[in-house]
Amino acid sequence: MNINLSNGFAKAQTKFFRFLADKFFARRYGHRAVVLETIAGVPGMVAGMWIHLKSLRQMRTGYGPMIRELLAEAENERMHLMFFIEIAKPNVFERWLILAAQAIFWNYYFVLYVCSPTTAHLMVHHFEEEAVKSYTSYLNMVESGSVENVPAPKLAIDYYGLKETAKLNDLIKCVRADEQRHAVANAKFAKKRQPELARGIAFVDLPPERCESEEAQGRRDAA
Ligand SMILES: [Fe+2]
Ligand SMILES: [Fe+2]
Repeated sequence: MNINLSNGFAKAQTKFFRFLADKFFARRYGHRAVVLETIAGVPGMVAGMWIHLKSLRQMRTGYGPMIRELLAEAENERMHLMFFIEIAKPNVFERWLILAAQAIFWNYYFVLYVCSPTTAHLMVHHFEEEAVKSYTSYLNMVESGSVENVPAPKLAIDYYGLKETAKLNDLIKCVRADEQRHAVANAKFAKKRQPELARGIAFVDLPPERCESEEAQGRRDAA
């Protein structure tokens, strides 16, 4: 697929999903995080599985780092879900929505990845940039006092190596840093396939967070 078409399609898809999320959740960011993290855990698993199968079919080495990075992304997103499920419990309707969204999105992303991996990575790149913006809005609400700054779940404290006194705002900063890393990683995968993208992708700037997720540690160990 032509690269401008790929990026245009990826951006349009992201705008469409963002529109749906804004309409449905508005500023209920805890619930928004729970439902969207169930979807965010899909692309890394689909892409990692597909590259794994490709390596088997071609009987070639060299795919290991990419497979591990994609599967680590999926696992990291699953952990985000585990953290936010302790902050906001989904209602019955949201549970049905999660089921339907997974059934549709898994198949959709699989077909997209097989047909155009570049478009698929670009779409995830744009999704992750939107996630960074959404978590920034959530953080602003917590820090301004309009959402209670409850203690961070124990699971998150252990995962990120946070202080025992860590709060929701500390957790959001760490999750946001993970989303930023996913945005960069997916742009890198897309650029590898289409080098002409190199100057076409900008990133949301974030202050560096002092979060050492197991995903980040795994990457450092593997490097
Ligand atoms: Fe996430
Ligand atoms: Fe992410």
